[in-house]
Amino acid sequence: MSRLARPGARARQPRFARMTAMPLPTQDQITEKLRAVIDPELRRSIVELGMVRSIEVKEDGRVEIVVSLTTAGCPIRAHFEQAVAQQVSELDGVTSVAVGFDVLSDDEKGQLQQTLGRSKLPAGALAQVKNVICVASGKGGVGKSTMTANLAAALSAEGHPAGALDCDVYGYSIPRMLGVNRKPEVNGERKILPLEAAGGVKVMSIGFFVEENSAVVWRGPMLHKAIQQFLEDVAWGELEYLLLDLPPGTGDVSMTLSQLLPQAKFAIVTTPQPAAQTVAKRAADMAVKFDLELLGVIENMSGFTTPQGERMTIFGEGGGQLLADELDIPMLGKVPLSEPLREHADNGTPLVTAEPDSPASQAIRQAARGIVAATPQELPVLQATPAPAEAPPVSGTPLPVVQG
Ligand SMILES: Nc1ncnc2c1ncn2[C@@H]1O[C@H](COP(=O)(O)OP(=O)(O)OP(=O)(O)O)[C@@H](O)[C@H]1O
Ligand SMILES: [Mg+2]
Repeated sequence: MSRLARPGARARQPRFARMTAMPLPTQDQITEKLRAVIDPELRRSIVELGMVRSIEVKEDGRVEIVVSLTTAGCPIRAHFEQAVAQQVSELDGVTSVAVGFDVLSDDEKGQLQQTLGRSKLPAGALAQVKNVICVASGKGGVGKSTMTANLAAALSAEGHPAGALDCDVYGYSIPRMLGVNRKPEVNGERKILPLEAAGGVKVMSIGFFVEENSAVVWRGPMLHKAIQQFLEDVAWGELEYLLLDLPPGTGDVSMTLSQLLPQAKFAIVTTPQPAAQTVAKRAADMAVKFDLELLGVIENMSGFTTPQGERMTIFGEGGGQLLADELDIPMLGKVPLSEPLREHADNGTPLVTAEPDSPASQAIRQAARGIVAATPQELPVLQATPAPAEAPPVSGTPLPVVQG
């Protein structure tokens, strides 16, 4: 952040005398003007948010400003470009304004999230949730959501009250896989009530709040807020396990979770080909970087047995065990490729509930028992800690919930 222009930064003096009589604006004057440029999503000035990377004033009155965005494809880039140019061109001595963009580093995004609000959940949030388990992978499509939905159903069926929280804000699939989808209601304490899927699994997803199949275009800080709200403002009640379905890859969500839930544990899903293990390890490395505990590996799509009983290793073999050995964590289970597993996920009835004795169900139930064995039953995720002093209220657009 040190390179960011700060209010009060010393003005850079032009090296040569200017030809024109009009004095050049100072960096402070420009910074003051930039205070009027408001990020429409975060509702704060780009100066306050630390998004002004640099300001350069040329001798001929040209001003070059670099604004740091939270993501490269920021949908409101044009807004910043126009607003910055307009504000700065109002200053005397400015002949033209050039606006460039770059992207905040992970550390800078972390600082921005802290500027935006509490970085930890308040005391009492999730107090009745004993374990939070993030289901993660390095790459997409390996079965995280399928595992989350089925593991939650399996845990619940084995007498361990469980919830599933969809943290995949852009590619949510938990509503479909658990067969629930309507706008949640709010209780008398203004907490959002999770929906209940078959078997008593409590479910929350951004998919419940948006028009069907519409895309969610949010940037890191909004994502942080949505997940924070799902953890803080949802009446999860007493749960032994809250499973978090993570989006593919590493990044913003892992960082958010590490700040909000330092006690969360990671289950890494991988396919069996040895090459996939390197990718999955990246997710594990991210968890380790943020000091989150790794619980174990689930190998999914691990072989296929034909109706004649022949076993085929379509995605190779051994990748899960290799990863588990490398990370020195247990293999929680090997779940075979199974058409019924996919079909039931598509129909909103998890296989473990619909066909509890099928081979894939048995493998998932074994993984669920592995999770139970590896997690303490006594401790709540968040001990009662004092709320941070003068925590600013979370700003931004609240989720559009139905009032109960
Ligand atoms: N063991 C399996 N056998 C057959 N199909 C499977 C299996 N596991 C997952 N699938 C299917 O593979 C597809 C991808 O699975 P899923 O959506 O769970 O992956 P994901 O890791 O959550 O993907 P994303 O990274 O996009 O969130 C789905 O259609 C799912 O039904
Ligand atoms: Mg998914």
